[in-house]
Amino acid sequence: RLEKMWLIFGISMLIVFLAVVGVGAFAMGMTPPGDHRHTVNPETVDQTEPFNHPGLRKIGENEYEAYLLAFAFGYSPEKLEIPKGATVHFNITSKDVVHGFEIVGTTVNMMVMPGEVNHLTYKFDKPGDFLILCNEYCGGAHEYMGTTLTVT
Ligand code: CUA
Repeated sequence: RLEKMWLIFGISMLIVFLAVVGVGAFAMGMTPPGDHRHTVNPETVDQTEPFNHPGLRKIGENEYEAYLLAFAFGYSPEKLEIPKGATVHFNITSKDVVHGFEIVGTTVNMMVMPGEVNHLTYKFDKPGDFLILCNEYCGGAHEYMGTTLTVT
């Protein structure tokens, strides 16, 4: 009788152990809460969803997701246009070296890393043309790397 109890206990512990390992492995495959970065392969990122179709996606009432690619020496897509009051969730990665992504006159300013997607959200309350600049030295034409975002 005692042996049987020990056997049940042993099996229970084994199940608990397996459950813990399983949950741990599952959790490791996910982004930890509060960490808004995730990894991508810079060599294939422009052939992989969603970065194979860079640009804006409407996700709600005047709310957009922007998927952007930086490369030497430009951004894809070349131009962005959004309505006034739009909230934009930027997701950006690099196809080659480290670039920058700064929208002049806003708080949007981030590093663009190959192999990593960086995220930032901004609400555009004022209309106008906003200059987007690369503010990390990335090679010969670094100072000409830029684009515009138009808020209408
Ligand atoms: Cu890209 Cu500097």
